[in-house]
Amino acid sequence: MLNESRRTLACLAALLLWTGTGVTAMAAETPIGWQTLKGAAPLVIAHRGASGYRPEHTLASYALAIEFGADFIEPDLVATRDGHLIARHEPLLDETTDVGVHPEFASRKTTRTMDGKAISGFFASDFTLQEIKTLRAVQPNPARSKQYDGQFEIPTFEEILELLTKANAGRNRPIGVYPETKHPGFHLALGLPLEDRLLTILREYHLEGRDAPVFIQSFESANLQYLRGKTTTRQVQLMDEGALEYDATGQQVIGVRIADHGDRRGDKSPTSLADIARYADAIGPWKRQILRDTGASSLLRTRLIEQAHAVGLLVHTYTFRNEPATLAPQYQGDPLQEYRQIFDLGIDGVFSDFPDTALEARRRHRER
Ligand code: G3P
Ligand code: CA
Repeated sequence: MLNESRRTLACLAALLLWTGTGVTAMAAETPIGWQTLKGAAPLVIAHRGASGYRPEHTLASYALAIEFGADFIEPDLVATRDGHLIARHEPLLDETTDVGVHPEFASRKTTRTMDGKAISGFFASDFTLQEIKTLRAVQPNPARSKQYDGQFEIPTFEEILELLTKANAGRNRPIGVYPETKHPGFHLALGLPLEDRLLTILREYHLEGRDAPVFIQSFESANLQYLRGKTTTRQVQLMDEGALEYDATGQQVIGVRIADHGDRRGDKSPTSLADIARYADAIGPWKRQILRDTGASSLLRTRLIEQAHAVGLLVHTYTFRNEPATLAPQYQGDPLQEYRQIFDLGIDGVFSDFPDTALEARRRHRER
């Protein structure tokens, strides 16, 4: 479809030249450009750092992403007992740290209700930052190397921004930060709200405001609505698997459902993309909400990107990985084919565990 529209535009350019309308700049070979909301190249967001190569959410992982030239590094943030923000994918420490082999912390294992479910494990919110600093990161993905296990600390948000500040010194185009507030309703109920602390730190590092190289993201809506009242920093409404309702064709989005897990700081939960556009600048859907797996031999293309663009929302989709086992069969084990398809659809940004591959895919796409 898109190749067809490119051909159509090229023919139109040739026709304009031939008819002598004076639009001489529009030569047939003029690149048509990206089909993104603003015509800019899609962003490469280093998901948990370059987490395909280093244990996720470590300074080593973010540093490698910066070295690759990613546009943004993406820390997920949770709170410690003393209110510090640290980078972890979950409030639980079990999978991504060596907490299980620290006998001094064995009694901290507990059961808490998170997002309506009883969950047992070691919660960051039961540890001080000083205690967290005695732990080391480990590789949680069994398909990836464990060679770096035990080498890296759990970083604070401030340490990540220190790294970024140093990396950005002298750069014309700064690398940005894309923090996610993890389980905001859970943290609010614990008396450890993430949002004001996040804003305070961003301000300390001069990274707040509409033009800052920052996107704040959340799977919940109430905390983003709360934040919208306090900052103009760009925001992203993430979408989990059940967040979108489609029409009978399976392609047109007709409803939105975002869970807020007891957080009442928002006006109301959004029921449409237009509702989201009132407090967010982008949506962050799962890639299978754009290209759906219906069990057919190829993925079903939805109109989510066009619908989001129509109400002014950027679309940044997660998560791109290189391992062939994570790819849909139609890509034949080649991650570049997956990027190529999503770039053709006009995506504005991709979260990738392998930002070097995403950057290579973008370079190739640009040169087509
Ligand atoms: O933040 C969006 C992307 O990271 C998907 O979520 O679960 O990997 O933090 P998650
Ligand atoms: Ca995330």
